[in-house]
Amino acid sequence: MREAQATIATLRVPWGGWPARVSAMLANIPRNLVGEARSLMYDWRHRVRTCGTVELAKLTTKGDNAHHGVFYQPTHPKLLVEVLSNLDIPYDRYVFIDLGSGKGRTLLVASEFPFQEVLGVEFARELHETACENIRRYRSGSQKTRNIRSIHADAIEFEFPASPLVLFLANPFGPGVLVPVLRNLQTSLASHPRDTIVLYVAPFHGDLVERETRLTCVERSVYHNTYRTPTIQ
Ligand SMILES: C[S@@+](CC[C@H](N)C(=O)[O-])C[C@H]1O[C@@H](n2cnc3c(N)ncnc32)[C@H](O)[C@@H]1O
Repeated sequence: MREAQATIATLRVPWGGWPARVSAMLANIPRNLVGEARSLMYDWRHRVRTCGTVELAKLTTKGDNAHHGVFYQPTHPKLLVEVLSNLDIPYDRYVFIDLGSGKGRTLLVASEFPFQEVLGVEFARELHETACENIRRYRSGSQKTRNIRSIHADAIEFEFPASPLVLFLANPFGPGVLVPVLRNLQTSLASHPRDTIVLYVAPFHGDLVERETRLTCVERSVYHNTYRTPTIQ
């Protein structure tokens, strides 16, 4: 599943033959280094450990879906802050959920916004344990909620809470898991209609969101697509 393994770091590399790819990769080096330095600073400032990529083969995963999963690579804090700041919503009515939450960086960033609750679902035991430790250790004078949890589970088993939702997907898995997850979401929305926003970073399978749910794409940007329930705002 080569395509699903691609992550945000590769998104800006054009598919125009090797010369174009190599020159785009070289041009990306300074930006990637700055991004890495910022992420290390983020960890140091908040006394957490969210950096680094981790192959799934080195981890103990729950369930039978590791072959559909994408390895751990955290989203840059700056991108997350930008995306969450631009949501024009009463945060305290919404639950933020990251499916495939890894070491919990997105949960920490989301806790800087006054969400009703912040939930992460991670199937790799080691990453989930690091996320729990990070949630305990996180220090920030501007944190808006301490109602944060990492849940150790396969995303396919997750039952969506009946509140308005901001669902974050940073290309965590391919269609084998994404389709059942989206069907669960649609079933939940059909029984409890409510506003739901899906923020899909590196949206390689964005077409499936519109195929499997009644959400529509309301924004396409360089790094992510935003989908939203059409009627209830
Ligand atoms: C690209 S990382 C994203 C990490 C985090 N969401 C972020 O943006 O910083 C994908 C994560 O999804 C997790 N994952 C993959 N398949 C999963 C599944 N079926 N259930 C739960 N987590 C899964 C991986 O272990 C990995 O931590």
